[in-house]
Amino acid sequence: MQIPQDLIETATLKLKSVQSEAEFFQLRSQYLGKKSFIISAFSKLRDLDPQSKASAAKELNILKSKLTKLFEDSLASIESIGEHDQLDVTLPADPYLIGSEHPITKISQKVIDYFIPLNYQIFSGNEIETDFYNFEALNFPENHPARQMHDTFYLNSNSNSNSNSNSNSNSNSKSEYLLRTHTSNTQINSMLKEDMPLYMLSPGRVYRCDSDTTHLPMFTQIEGLVVDEDVTFGDLKGIIIDFLENFFNEKMEVRFRPSYFPFTEPSAEVDIKFGNQGWLEILGCGMVHPNVLKGCNVDTKKYRGFAFGMGIERLAMLYYGVSDIRDFYSSNLDFLNQFPS
Ligand code: DAH
Repeated sequence: MQIPQDLIETATLKLKSVQSEAEFFQLRSQYLGKKSFIISAFSKLRDLDPQSKASAAKELNILKSKLTKLFEDSLASIESIGEHDQLDVTLPADPYLIGSEHPITKISQKVIDYFIPLNYQIFSGNEIETDFYNFEALNFPENHPARQMHDTFYLNSNSNSNSNSNSNSNSNSKSEYLLRTHTSNTQINSMLKEDMPLYMLSPGRVYRCDSDTTHLPMFTQIEGLVVDEDVTFGDLKGIIIDFLENFFNEKMEVRFRPSYFPFTEPSAEVDIKFGNQGWLEILGCGMVHPNVLKGCNVDTKKYRGFAFGMGIERLAMLYYGVSDIRDFYSSNLDFLNQFPS
């Protein structure tokens, strides 16, 4: 049997000029397929006499394994040519799943989106605050009963102090820092920092010692503050009603119910008629108390202000029809996946 001696050489040469996977497999079948020299030579072995059969078989086996190895080795580099051929940089990238925006973030953004075109600037306040910004400058005098509705978490500035509650606080035992109970602290931060007139909105987390199906120890509020010449309660009413109708995208029945907040005078709580649930309280608001303006060096002869504060979880519960506030923070993916981005 004539066994060509240059089989490996020619195969190596041809493999070098291969440009695609298809060409590679074609060449491989030419050298190792059913009709290749090597495979048909094996079937012809039976015609040989035993001695030449043994030596030819040995030679063919060596050749076959060399060829097999040659093709195996070049397959990797051919595959990378294939990948190159297929690379289309204009294709969009594979989507990278990183979850979706939290419903509370979505609702905060929806509120912000209403006020931004009205030129409100976004202010981020401090979550760890001093008694001054959270209470005193907002006209909550020391030991005022209104503080009792805002029981919060105190950070002991003195490690020996064990005063954790403000309900029995006095100036000697009170810790310096606390977790803010409302975003109203940003009224003070912004007025002390900015020139008047001022239009600001401040979303953020607030803290209270409270926990049940409608209250959490940590929740989210958005504060609004306008200080300008000649602003009136009518302006406040107009903006709140327009905001609510925009937010729920329908005509709303809105009620301003007289209320009390130390930092506004007059003060109101705003209720909306919602479905068959009757009146629901949705936010607090009022005209900024002159004591607050004066404390922030605002000229009260020239400027007046109105403010409002709303709970985002409450808005989100109504908007999405969620009945247990704790669902927002239980990290349950079945719940969260209902709010795709
Ligand atoms: N800070 C109040 C609270 O958390 C809400 C509030 C009421 C904010 C009246 C205001 C306001 O700006 O004018 O209960």
